[in-house]
Amino acid sequence: MPVDPKILERVEWLRKEIHYHNYRYYVLDSPVISDAEYDALMRELRDLEARYPELITPDSPTQRVGAPPAEGFAEVEHRQPMLSLANAFNEEEFLAWYQRVRRLLEGETFAMTCELKVDGLAVSLTYENGVLTRGATRGDGYRGEDVTNNLKTVKSIPLRLLKPAAAFMEVRGEVYMSKDAFDRLNQERAREGQPLFANPRNAAAGSVRQLDSSITARRRLDIWVYGIGAIEGGEHPPTQWETLQWLRELGFRTNPNTRRVATPQEAIDYYREWREKHHDLPYETDGVVVKVDPFALWSRLGVVGREPRWAVAYKWPATQATTRLLSIGINVGRTGRLNPYAVLEPVQVGGVTVSKATLHNEDYIKSRDIRIGDWVIVERAGEVIPQVVAPIPARRTGQEQEFRMPTTCPVCGARVVRPEGEAFAFCTNASCPAQFLERLIHFAKAMEIDGLGEQWCRAFVEAGLVRDVADLYRLTKEDLLKLERMGDKLAGNILGSIQKSKTRPLSHLLVALGIYHVGTVTAQQIAAKFRSMERLLSASVEDLLAIQGIGPETAESVVAFFQEAQNQRLIAKLREAGVRMEEGEPVPTPAGLPLVGKVFCFTGTLASMTRSQAEARVKALGGIPTDTVTRKTTYLVVGTDPGETKLTQARKFGTALLTEEEFLALIGEKKGG
Ligand code: IVH
Repeated sequence: MPVDPKILERVEWLRKEIHYHNYRYYVLDSPVISDAEYDALMRELRDLEARYPELITPDSPTQRVGAPPAEGFAEVEHRQPMLSLANAFNEEEFLAWYQRVRRLLEGETFAMTCELKVDGLAVSLTYENGVLTRGATRGDGYRGEDVTNNLKTVKSIPLRLLKPAAAFMEVRGEVYMSKDAFDRLNQERAREGQPLFANPRNAAAGSVRQLDSSITARRRLDIWVYGIGAIEGGEHPPTQWETLQWLRELGFRTNPNTRRVATPQEAIDYYREWREKHHDLPYETDGVVVKVDPFALWSRLGVVGREPRWAVAYKWPATQATTRLLSIGINVGRTGRLNPYAVLEPVQVGGVTVSKATLHNEDYIKSRDIRIGDWVIVERAGEVIPQVVAPIPARRTGQEQEFRMPTTCPVCGARVVRPEGEAFAFCTNASCPAQFLERLIHFAKAMEIDGLGEQWCRAFVEAGLVRDVADLYRLTKEDLLKLERMGDKLAGNILGSIQKSKTRPLSHLLVALGIYHVGTVTAQQIAAKFRSMERLLSASVEDLLAIQGIGPETAESVVAFFQEAQNQRLIAKLREAGVRMEEGEPVPTPAGLPLVGKVFCFTGTLASMTRSQAEARVKALGGIPTDTVTRKTTYLVVGTDPGETKLTQARKFGTALLTEEEFLALIGEKKGG
């Protein structure tokens, strides 16, 4: 039964409307109707197509997703080959390209179109009488793969042109994935334990070459259209610049950061501008493409091999290269952190030879499945340390080995721990030689040893005078006089300072030992609670957690430190040398931190500051802000409309109550009365 012409008309109208709104939304980025109105149009069209399936056409906006998975891709021939571009890596090479063109054109001047070279994959879109009939990859330039169903899922690719153009037309562009979509995709894959994509280009290529187009549809791909291939039964404008405008009017997404220039210097200016700015773009680019603007000149210039003479890719300085990962080394940092790094077959990256690159940490290596012996992509961007970005699994031989983080320190052999929630593993030995110099400097500073700065610390270590911090207390004048530039008086002064440092309280010593997560305030809290090293040595994680303001990471780090046999030996040696192991009375308050050891709670509204500002002030002065009143609370600060619970608790524990004025006076911000 023929369908009512009214229905047919409505279906056609709906499609046209939807195509237009897609264009407004995905191409122009400026919708003129709400999402709800758009959804209503789509729903109506879907309903009608469900009732009259014979009306469904391949270019209907409902047909972007839903094609059944394919067995493989059919091969397609491009009517006009998809060429590649000659590269210029510096200004000289760019100018050489320009001069050659100029010569071939016998001195004629010409305008040029400067475009960004987007890093994705080239595709060819065929439109027959305005309808998308085929989408293909570049392939070898002559034959590509038919990925029509996949490309139809890319919302910024029009299924139907906004106005008539030609009976047959190939449109060329770059399908890409934004940096943001790429990050999200990789995060999702990491969560699911799937291998990660090395870069947005690989992710885009992998997504377009999916046999199941519903996967492509979920990948958030986009397109920038930059030119046309074969065209029959229609005409395009006479220049590249105008053609880009025309393509935009037909409904294609063309890059707005395009510029028409008259001189090579202007093209260089464009390049320089974007070489600095491209990092801020939401998608990746690897350079600019400069094209001779009038098409009439294209045929005069011709093609050499696969590279047309009328265009050049002027690339950003290289940031990536591929090479072999020979082995994985471990560097032990001053905090004892184990930093894995790649030993590489030396490779040039942007004019610099790279033979080592960071691998960050164990998780980084695991999540990217980087193996010893792999071919890897190395990146060196700007001033950043070179890093291994990803392996190239296709080049594996089967001889590659998985990396395992050592369980003992490669330098000193002590136990390695990776604290809960930490991305890094640490050597637990305070005397580990790799960390030792830095630790010695830190120790001298924390124990306030006057005159023992970085230079003398280094001289001591290099001369083999000290192998752990306790050795400082065994030094004699004769030892010091062996050092260059050391005089009798100076040696006496340094030894005097070292002796004096023995009397520092336990809190100083705790800081000086360089326990991970233990800074001045934490050390004072710990010392205030345990009073002596003796008691601290037998403390459990729970005991430490009982201190306000100490979390599980710190507690575990402290316990792990004192469990390590080498650290126990160090402490015994320090004790033997006569270093004080007690805190002493009263708890010293460091200058400028008047609220150390004081626990604050707030209730009601303060007039002069917000609750979080008040809490920040307390913290800055060494105090501890809390949310509930407990036995440990020193003060409850009462604003207007105080909470009944907190007041009741304060009464129960006998907590001191402060008015806002009293609080301000305490923190040194007293206002008037
Ligand atoms: S023009 C005859 N313009 O770069 C050359 N290419 O290395 C036709 N590309 O395969 C390409 N952005 O994938 C042109 N604005 C742009 C481009 C661009 C990216 C890619 C394209 C091409 C490759 C050539």
